[in-house]
Amino acid sequence: MCGIIGILGRGDVAPYLVDGLGRLEYRGYDSAGMAVMEDGAIAVLRTVGTVERLAAMYRGSPVSGAAGLAHTRWATHGGVSDRNAHPHVSCGGEAAVIHNGIIENHAELREELSSKGHAFKSETDTEVAVHLLEEALAAGKGPLEAGMDVARRLRGQYALVFLMRGHPDVILAMRKNAPLLVGLGKGESIVASDALAFIDRTNRVVFLEDDTLALVARDGVRVYGFLGQERPVVVTDLAQELTLPDKHDHEHFTIKEIREQPEAVERVVSQVPGSMTIFRRELEKAKRVFFVAAGTSYHAALLAKRYFSDHMKLYGEVILASEYRGSEQWFDDGAVVVCISQSGETMDVLEAARSAKGRGATVLSMVNRSPSSLEMLSDAVVKLNVGPEVGVAATKSFTAQVVLFYALARGGASEEEVAELKGAMEAALAQEQEIIGVAELVAKGRDVYFLGRGVSYPMALEGALKMKELAYLHAEGLAAGELKHGPLALVDSGTPLVLLNPEDETYAETMSNGAEVKSRGGMVIGFSTAPSPTYDRFVRIPPVRAEFYPVVEAVPLQLLAYHVARLLDKSIDKPRNLAKSVTVK
Ligand code: F6R
Repeated sequence: MCGIIGILGRGDVAPYLVDGLGRLEYRGYDSAGMAVMEDGAIAVLRTVGTVERLAAMYRGSPVSGAAGLAHTRWATHGGVSDRNAHPHVSCGGEAAVIHNGIIENHAELREELSSKGHAFKSETDTEVAVHLLEEALAAGKGPLEAGMDVARRLRGQYALVFLMRGHPDVILAMRKNAPLLVGLGKGESIVASDALAFIDRTNRVVFLEDDTLALVARDGVRVYGFLGQERPVVVTDLAQELTLPDKHDHEHFTIKEIREQPEAVERVVSQVPGSMTIFRRELEKAKRVFFVAAGTSYHAALLAKRYFSDHMKLYGEVILASEYRGSEQWFDDGAVVVCISQSGETMDVLEAARSAKGRGATVLSMVNRSPSSLEMLSDAVVKLNVGPEVGVAATKSFTAQVVLFYALARGGASEEEVAELKGAMEAALAQEQEIIGVAELVAKGRDVYFLGRGVSYPMALEGALKMKELAYLHAEGLAAGELKHGPLALVDSGTPLVLLNPEDETYAETMSNGAEVKSRGGMVIGFSTAPSPTYDRFVRIPPVRAEFYPVVEAVPLQLLAYHVARLLDKSIDKPRNLAKSVTVK
């Protein structure tokens, strides 16, 4: 969360800051800001709202200079306001800071610094960092020693980047459990939370490790531990596959990503078999298996458990990443912990992975974005290979996760299986007009329920999650059999209920649940392979082997949420209050 970028260049870096920040906006879009070293002073522009708003502000009153910082915020401490937008500047304007993460001891530091005469201008946890740096610089310390002082005082997780008026040729960066990397260009260096910010300028990257400080200069970077010991600098050439995303002719990234799923599933199984083999070998040896994930990735984990159970006769427990502590006593050297994360940066998942590593367990991970913090701390990684997912709502990454788990559990997927899936997903996409009709009905209501059994149960959860985040409608996903244990009381005349009902072993029982709803006046929207008089509306699901239904059902569920959101005029690619990469607890 929060996107950060700092650049030391030769000419004016301000236009580039705005441009690079736009590519980081998926990390948070409550407010945006930038600071530029202009004629020996730090000039700041900040605004509530989008990077485009910041860009307009910049065009109206341009700032310019050869060093600068920029930030896109996802608010944690302090409301969404201009004064809480980053960068924050020290009392006398000696330094500016941008931050991603949470400083846990900010309240006590604020009190201490206030008593020394520091005037705070925001309600953020971040601002303490720049006042701490100011103290150290005022005591005559250089950037490295001053940075070490700051690191010594802060508790929490952070990626911090400072601009210092007295040191115009260096940017100070520090990292503790939050992503940060340095791009080395020609006569310029860029520090950012994601390589996407600078991949158009350079693919030569230094990944900063946790608990390190970096002194970034135009001609390179020096890295130190928090106690001042210099660390070797390893430069990695990033693969050019990290291309800049483009919507092409699609109205939103979200619909583009929904539509590209048939190709994506094909790509996902064309993996280098090596990583799949390691994964399976570790799982075969395991005494205990845990699947750890959050949000949509958690729904993929529920399906993974089922596939591994059916095909490898492996029993696994699925854990919400934010709840891993209840199970961590079992993360021992006989355990394999499988972490699933599109971004590879979800803080809750990283914490669980660190706990697992610390207790001697083997950590396997499945990621899409690469490089990522999760893969760096894993024993083995499989990658989705579906390219950047820009829409905040997970779509193609989810179907890719499910397909990859299927392939892992089976020891591969045949060409025939891939063709079956691809064809069925294309047929599901062709139902878009029918789904728009259903969306018009759902958009009129306040609530919508999703029901499924067996492999369709995680899809009921996923359908509801997509509806909540894209359309801001109250939605619940339920195991079909649970309806009669309470939720049926919610069903009233016209209540829409999506019944995920493919003709698999669950068909007859789920149909009975649909009938129970219908007889109480509810509106049953059947997502099924065959029509039925029980359904008030029908969306056809192409018939496939039973295990593929989740992948095929995902498509109309995503389309439904997308079209309801579109009809309600919601911010589809960037739903309110959300961010693509959840790097705080
Ligand atoms: C839902 C969504 C979120 C993410 C969750 C985990 O559409 O996008 O629920 O699935 O934040 O993110 P990753 O997979 O990056 O760990």
